[in-house]
Amino acid sequence: MQDKRVSLAPMMDWTTPEFRFFARLFNRHIWLYSEMVSTSAILHGDRERLLKLDPSEHPAVLQLGGSDPAQLAQASRFGEQAGFDEINLNVGCPSDRVQHNRIGACLMAEPELVAELYLAMQGAIDIPVTIKHRIGIDDLQSYEDLARFVQIVSEAGCQHFIVHARIALLDGLSPKQNREVPPLRYDDVYRLKADFPELFIEINGGINQFEAAKEHLEHLDGVMIGRAFYHQPELMGQLCTLWGEPTPKASEVLEALYPYLDSWQKTTSVPLAVICRHFLGLFAGQPGSRKWRQDLSGKKQITIDDIRAAADHVLLNEPSNVSSNGA
Ligand SMILES: Cc1cc2nc3c(=O)[nH]c(=O)nc-3n(C[C@H](O)[C@H](O)[C@H](O)COP(=O)(O)O)c2cc1C
Repeated sequence: MQDKRVSLAPMMDWTTPEFRFFARLFNRHIWLYSEMVSTSAILHGDRERLLKLDPSEHPAVLQLGGSDPAQLAQASRFGEQAGFDEINLNVGCPSDRVQHNRIGACLMAEPELVAELYLAMQGAIDIPVTIKHRIGIDDLQSYEDLARFVQIVSEAGCQHFIVHARIALLDGLSPKQNREVPPLRYDDVYRLKADFPELFIEINGGINQFEAAKEHLEHLDGVMIGRAFYHQPELMGQLCTLWGEPTPKASEVLEALYPYLDSWQKTTSVPLAVICRHFLGLFAGQPGSRKWRQDLSGKKQITIDDIRAAADHVLLNEPSNVSSNGA
């Protein structure tokens, strides 16, 4: 069994191939999830771009959004062919746009349909299919409702559930509020693991520190982290200690990023300035991080030399680079 203890959450506009490449430089073990891609986008859109996967990204998971069994099966096949290691079904997104298409968290009200979707997807491919969901929605907020959902979907064969430990209120709260307002109920996820010990239960929501991740891992099979990994990517590096490896320094990550940026410039017409937003968290928590963010934000054009100059400003101020007499 592969080590799936830690994963980067799927985040639209954030876990793009560029951020996933960057994330991989901090930690070679974390499972990296794509943004959600709808089945219709894969079947009718620019599939090559949507399923872009760099070999360094493995282990990598494609998250799909949809509710049509045949379309999900076909999209899963494309994901497998593109080289992803797993396919995940989104049953957690509360956006109006996706509800309208019966995608995301609204599917929690239809566990039998989710079981059918799982069967269609898993029947089409050899790599595992997993489900990411909420602890509840709207009037299905009790632990019993959650357990019923997992019971029905696991009876179809699904073994890996990623549980965002917040309910989603589909009427009235925005997607952002649905990640902040409903309280976290970690106990429900712990209880789920106690009631379904044979399943792989991964917890998600509000985990933003090394100690918290470690604590969850003492009770559960995995932790998924989203915003904290994006804004403070060093946390991915700190978690290397789970595998007995040192935390890479920001300067080392940057050195490994330069060849990627260089190749980006040579092979795409998209300006570097567009992807720099993914690297703003590189020095989070270090003196100079604000200036780094300012230097990389809001520009139309940025060169690699500009990035080097911005980084030098921070690195020259790193405590280890300042001599003891403060010179
Ligand atoms: C900008 C953004 C986009 C997101 N997009 C998705 C998505 O495409 N699919 C999904 O399942 N969850 C999505 N989420 C939810 C995250 O995967 C995760 O469940 C949520 O942020 C809670 O985890 P965290 O507290 O560690 O960030 C998104 C979250 C953010 C902040």
